[in-house]
Amino acid sequence: MLHEPAPSVHQLLAFYLEAGVDCALSDEPVDRLAEETVEDLAPAQRPALRTSAPLTAAAPAVVPSSRNDAAPPPDIAITSAREAARTATTLEELRALLDNFDGCALKSTATRLVFADGTPQARIMFVGEAPGRDEDIEGLPFVGRSGKLLDLMIGAIGLDRTKVYIANVIPWRPPGNRTPTPQETQICLPFIQRQIELVDPDILVTMGNPSTQSLLRTREGIMRTRGKWIDYDTGRRTIRAMPTFHPAYLLRSPAYKRLAWQDLRAIRKALTPA
Ligand code: URA
Repeated sequence: MLHEPAPSVHQLLAFYLEAGVDCALSDEPVDRLAEETVEDLAPAQRPALRTSAPLTAAAPAVVPSSRNDAAPPPDIAITSAREAARTATTLEELRALLDNFDGCALKSTATRLVFADGTPQARIMFVGEAPGRDEDIEGLPFVGRSGKLLDLMIGAIGLDRTKVYIANVIPWRPPGNRTPTPQETQICLPFIQRQIELVDPDILVTMGNPSTQSLLRTREGIMRTRGKWIDYDTGRRTIRAMPTFHPAYLLRSPAYKRLAWQDLRAIRKALTPA
């Protein structure tokens, strides 16, 4: 029988990096296979979900009582997120609610909350998918490579970062920049919807498929939705939303910058008084 030589540390690290594992979550390794799952426990031993002291009477943030890095079941977390988000009357309250919300497991692996950048008085709001490594370090959305391209896109409509508002559907970095699960998106959705309502922009720009599909409730891909105005009900009023390409996608596929430019021209026209 042929034995492969054991991989070197360098090869192992390269393997992990390629698989998207680029950050350590704790100082000690954890043998997940040796861990007891909730299903392994007798019903009487299973941990009960605890609802932490609400920030406001009607805004419970659900946390599990046994481990603070485990999230509650998605349906409970989604209900809790909806109830919590509804109670925020200002962006500061919403940020504080998110900081106290333990219903999304991504919070326990991210370094910090990435809430928003720009001005809450902006007439235009851009929404991406989720923070990456640079955003997780700085605590601001779109500060990495795709952020530099977003700055150029914003410049193309005659504005800069201080005159727009930028946020993400998911406010915590998924480990290794993996795609957020549908459950994670559903849990975070009430918060970004409330954030849009509180900013109350005239124009919403959804960047890429995840942001477009979750906020504009469509299954159509970005190739079909981009460049078209879609009504968005903030809960207060109907505003105009425009899906366009995510800057990270444009970095990978620069040929689509031409179409993105068309979208930006339509947005600039919509912002210009007649
Ligand atoms: N990609 C996103 O969707 N959001 C960020 O903040 C950064 C990269």
